[in-house]
Amino acid sequence: MNAPWKPNLAGNRDPFAAFVCDENTLDALRPVVIELGWPPEKCNKGGLRNAVQSLSVSASPAILLVDLSESGNPLNDINGLAEVCEPGTVVIAIGQVNDVRLYRDLLASGIHDYLLKPLSANQLRDTLTQAQMVFNQPKHQDGAAAKQHISTAVVGTRGGVGASTLVTSLAWLFSSEYKRPTALLDLDVHFGTGALTLDLEPGRGLTDAIDNPSRIDGLFIERAMVRANDNLAILSAEAPINSPLMTDGAAFLQLEEEFRQAFEMTLIDMPRNMIINFPHLLSEVNVVIVATELTLASARDAIRILSWLKGNAAHATPLVVANRVQTGVGEISRADFEASIERKIDFVVPFDLKSAANAAKLGQTFVEANRSSKATAAIRDIANTIANMGDNEDEDGNGPKKAKSSLLGGLDLKALLPRKAGAKVPAEPAE
Ligand SMILES: Nc1ncnc2c1ncn2[C@@H]1O[C@H](COP(=O)(O)OP(=O)(O)OP(=O)(O)O)[C@@H](O)[C@H]1O
Ligand SMILES: [Mg+2]
Repeated sequence: MNAPWKPNLAGNRDPFAAFVCDENTLDALRPVVIELGWPPEKCNKGGLRNAVQSLSVSASPAILLVDLSESGNPLNDINGLAEVCEPGTVVIAIGQVNDVRLYRDLLASGIHDYLLKPLSANQLRDTLTQAQMVFNQPKHQDGAAAKQHISTAVVGTRGGVGASTLVTSLAWLFSSEYKRPTALLDLDVHFGTGALTLDLEPGRGLTDAIDNPSRIDGLFIERAMVRANDNLAILSAEAPINSPLMTDGAAFLQLEEEFRQAFEMTLIDMPRNMIINFPHLLSEVNVVIVATELTLASARDAIRILSWLKGNAAHATPLVVANRVQTGVGEISRADFEASIERKIDFVVPFDLKSAANAAKLGQTFVEANRSSKATAAIRDIANTIANMGDNEDEDGNGPKKAKSSLLGGLDLKALLPRKAGAKVPAEPAE
């Protein structure tokens, strides 16, 4: 989040103030405020404009709740609020506009949370309690070194090409060998295999997140994610087949944002239909692995996906990974495939049925179960390339988001070309 309301503990301020536009909201708010031990007379009638007026002549509270309902240009007015509001105040906005873009813009402008009216007592209690914690325990300590974060999405050109195998294997390598705190987000909400591969139950975490995007924060992540090992946490679902995905995508964006704060690596299993429905999901991703087989249909869809990425996620580094490759018996040759997609394949993972079966039998990821297989060596190369990307970032202390602008320039293109036998990308696990 941006600077204006960066938490700091300085000063003795009122614990709370609210500026809301309607009686119903006031009626919902007052009992919760009393319950939390705050004076109910700090719940004022009047929206954002009244808040700006009032704060321009008085000290800012620790937690401020403002109603955007009567604001014609909420983002502009929020900037006006930032000018009169002292640093450290945790601001919660409420309103009746259900729009992901507005939600994201508000968060980016430093707002702690945005709640949709009508408000329930439970929702208010949860949000205000969290805001209190944020005020008392600043997440970003001044002077603390910014952690780098690399977010990688894996998209399969066709079903069954091994996208999920790559996701779980990379997540295992980053967490177990590189010892980097890693999040795995399985967006194959109905049929995902992330948890199954790791021999875990998916739990309700992702389903809860989709149902209640406004609840997603650091605490939620801690409670909702399932731990696979000391450094790997997974968020996935096995949604019932008769329950369609009901979301505008806000939850996924919020999860990506929280992962950036809490982890060093994020792996997203991104079924290709998700980029059709939620194209903005790749807006903050650093690397997109296009997983493919060497078939005609895959070549067609690799071309279409790569071209889509150019237009919609130009900041991300695409890596083409051919998986399940059998020399001599493929539908089309590597050379023909590369000619048709008009670029090189970056990594080739050989077909290895025995290893795939072994991983399934052991309930482990492909690379964990088959440490000496050639396919594992190829996946290890992919991990090395991605892990080393972060090393090329400029240290400007501005946090992980900067990674996306420096990645393109920082990528060693030669490292993407198929290596000669014996030549290795130096593996330098973090720490
Ligand atoms: N290199 C490989 N050699 C042999 N089998 C493989 C290889 N990689 C993956 N597999 C196997 O291929 C099958 C499909 O893999 P996976 O589930 O990862 O694909 P996917 O692209 O995620 O599929 P979906 O479209 O269903 O999500 C699995 O049984 C997996 O074990
Ligand atoms: Mg899959």
